[in-house]
Amino acid sequence: MDSVIVLDFGGQYAHLITRRIRDFGVYSEILPFDADLDEIRKIMPKAIVLSGGPSSIYDNDSPTLNDEFFKFTSENKIPILGICYGHHLIMHKFEGKVELKEKKEYGRANLIIIEESLLFDSLNREEIVWMSHGDQVTSIPKGFKILAKTDTCPIASYENKDKFLYGVQFHPEVVNTTKGNKILENFVFKIAHCDREWKVEGLIENIIEKIKNKVGLKDKVILGLSGGVDSSVTAVLIHRAIGDRLHCVFVNNGLLRKNEEIEVQKTFKETLKFKNFHYIDAEGLFLKKLKDIEDPEEKRKIIGHTFIEIFENKTIELEKANPDIKYLAQGTIYPDRVETSATSNASAKIKSHHNVTLPNDMKLDIIEPLKNLYKDEVRRIGLTLGIPQEIILRHPFPGPGLGVRIVGTINKEKLNILREADAILIDEIRKAGVYNKLWQAFCVFLPLKTVGVMGDYRTYEYICAIRAVESLDVMTANFAKLNWDLLEKIGTRIINEVKGINRVVYDITNKPPGTIEYE
Ligand code: XMP
Repeated sequence: MDSVIVLDFGGQYAHLITRRIRDFGVYSEILPFDADLDEIRKIMPKAIVLSGGPSSIYDNDSPTLNDEFFKFTSENKIPILGICYGHHLIMHKFEGKVELKEKKEYGRANLIIIEESLLFDSLNREEIVWMSHGDQVTSIPKGFKILAKTDTCPIASYENKDKFLYGVQFHPEVVNTTKGNKILENFVFKIAHCDREWKVEGLIENIIEKIKNKVGLKDKVILGLSGGVDSSVTAVLIHRAIGDRLHCVFVNNGLLRKNEEIEVQKTFKETLKFKNFHYIDAEGLFLKKLKDIEDPEEKRKIIGHTFIEIFENKTIELEKANPDIKYLAQGTIYPDRVETSATSNASAKIKSHHNVTLPNDMKLDIIEPLKNLYKDEVRRIGLTLGIPQEIILRHPFPGPGLGVRIVGTINKEKLNILREADAILIDEIRKAGVYNKLWQAFCVFLPLKTVGVMGDYRTYEYICAIRAVESLDVMTANFAKLNWDLLEKIGTRIINEVKGINRVVYDITNKPPGTIEYE
């Protein structure tokens, strides 16, 4: 099957490039820029993209590629598309001129195409593109041809057909480059001649087969199941492969949504007929440990550590009865994995996300059947596997649950108030037919009391904030412009039906500068 490798030079966009290529029906994966040539040779990609990155090729330890790499691609006629930093790097290697620019160019630019080429096939002579760069190419070596320019960038794109090299200064992978998809499609199909053969659904049998081969006929697997999309799909794939040799552990941390623990158990035990589903009610322990804790990061840490403690104890208990438990399954998906071994460590820590990393001393081998897939691909697999839509199409729910949706200290009273309000919000949003259009919608408990009036009585109760956002990639999100009548209905119901709340506010913060969750 044809594939395209994206070499990651530390930009934020490598994921977007692979995503787009996969959406064309061609398998694509990210490798670090310094991946072993043997690894690339084994894959024998039909094309390679060099991503952008924060470095300048003039930095002391700037990431680079060796001559052997270019010898390999040229001998095997593998086209390379350099984007931004990749575009500079090719020039640097082939003795073009790249000039160091102190001043960055950032934003929309008007690309003027000056030469016909397959890369810009069926584009207009002028197109809007997205630029984000400091350095720029100022002269090209012999054999290269300038394809396009902008007002400030005389060599915005080049090609060398004999050496199978292409470069663009702008970012075709972002939506702000209007015809970016067309450019990538041209590269993948017209230049690299890939076939559209890849479909995520086609991977299911392959994944199941791999699990069977790995686990064998008698060993067992343990999985921490949250009932979210990733762990649910992981569970069903493993269950298909090894049946009830899969042990799922579901921990009720007391921070779940209304009736969640009942619904998850029902789905797995009754609908999907999992025999070894272990439910642990740990609400008491979590709430005890969280008592009086206000700081968001501390809350997250306590929730993560407490989960690990419980999960480890349960594993030890299960291992006693089932000495064949040899594997620990995890619902890790592609972005989680690449993020943890990112080639760039330039990004600042905003929140300690990504749930729990189980300790290494558990001595179990890890199985991660979704490790090469993106969220929407996991969803497609889940639907094909027949997992109920309520699970697969559910909005993302953070590992620390309602713990990060109650500002300040947590207790059962606040949790119950929040659960009731949230259930009303979701009910109304579903009834209005907008649930599937939103990335997330949820209520947040604000520990502030304000005055209200109900009937003839003064009230003095808490505030509930409604957060509803639209997003494609979670890195950015816009607050949803929900219909006023719908918001009014939700607000009225929450105030009338939820004891403890007398004011509802709507959050109009985008991300950035806000984050989606409150803590
Ligand atoms: P923020 O609040 O950073 O959230 O804009 C981005 C997305 O991540 C989810 N989120 C989490 N998911 N564990 C998770 O699995 C976490 O600790 C966590 N914190 C936030 C959040 O719901 C949103 O979809």
